[in-house]
Amino acid sequence: MKDSLTEYLIAASGERKVPDTLYTQKGEKVTAAEQWEQVRRPEVLALFREHVYGVNPVERPDSLSFNIVETKEGMMGGKATRKQVDISFEGPGGKGTIRLLLFVPSKQKKPVPAFLLINKRGLDHMDPEREKRSGYWPAESIVERGYAAAVFWTNDVDPDEHDEFKNGVHGIFDDKERPSNAWGTIGAWAWGASRVMDYLEADSDIDADRVAVAGHSRTGKTALWAGAVDERFAFVISNDSGNTGAAISRGKIGETINQINTKFPHWFNENYKTYNDKEFDLPIDQHMLLSLIAPRSVYVASATEDEWADPKSEFLSLVYATPVYQLYGFNGLGTNQFPQPESPIIGDKMGHHIRIGKHNLTQYDWEQFINFWDQIDK
Ligand code: GCU
Repeated sequence: MKDSLTEYLIAASGERKVPDTLYTQKGEKVTAAEQWEQVRRPEVLALFREHVYGVNPVERPDSLSFNIVETKEGMMGGKATRKQVDISFEGPGGKGTIRLLLFVPSKQKKPVPAFLLINKRGLDHMDPEREKRSGYWPAESIVERGYAAAVFWTNDVDPDEHDEFKNGVHGIFDDKERPSNAWGTIGAWAWGASRVMDYLEADSDIDADRVAVAGHSRTGKTALWAGAVDERFAFVISNDSGNTGAAISRGKIGETINQINTKFPHWFNENYKTYNDKEFDLPIDQHMLLSLIAPRSVYVASATEDEWADPKSEFLSLVYATPVYQLYGFNGLGTNQFPQPESPIIGDKMGHHIRIGKHNLTQYDWEQFINFWDQIDK
């Protein structure tokens, strides 16, 4: 295991030089966790807010309320209790509600740890009755392994369309004049995940110190940002998150910043568009996003047929984030060799696998996330 960032860069990527996370804006080298937390971490977080994901106009609104719409025992053949909770808020532009669907293992001693999925695929994938099931959110398997399965739908927070920020939480909280660093839709979804966390903290069935936030693709980007901003998430899972998710942007294959900003102009802030075709001018790269999760657990999953996301660039983020984990005495993956397909790495606070197949979130992926957390959590 190499111990300096420069050695990582040369060993893992040859020419692809990324910014060194461990130099402060004053040019001082960060050598201790305390210095990271007090000086450099806030700098890096501010850079991501300013140049990429945006600044939120509000965090937890005073108006936030939880309404437990239903608690139903005897679900999943008696193995789970179902809860449906409306998480509501109000701002100058109106009211909004996020519906949380939660299955808690019945027989297990409470509180239990939980996996929270940020679901973009709609209600078919979070059927409360469990008539429709898919590997995208295998709630039965999660419960079987002793974790609560929680999910919310991104549309409740902000519909995934470019409407000049009229609908969703933008319409509720934004000022009329949106500054060039104002939050976009991914920032809004991450905000939604934090509001769900506000509820989970208040639910005595849930161990709020052991909540994982997970997402696939655009919600994988969201999970990483949510985990970076909100340190209450103990474990952050990115599945096939690709560009502006886990993948290093400099030298990335597949989707570029220009392409993502052109096709999805509402996802990030306006400032990010000034980096179209100028990845090398960014003051950050995506390994620094993963670094913000340290010393908590982070898992990056990829798929062999997902060139658009670029599995190697996703893997490199973990490698390049390792020096920050080392400040806390954790070794990360323990390797900078890109692994064989379906040979998961359960490292020291870092996990990784590359599944055989296409861009998707599957039962196989979930099994690896759960295996990782079973080991880390014991
Ligand atoms: C598009 C987009 C990706 C995104 C993906 C998804 O392919 O270009 O950045 O991750 O959609 O969310 O499935």
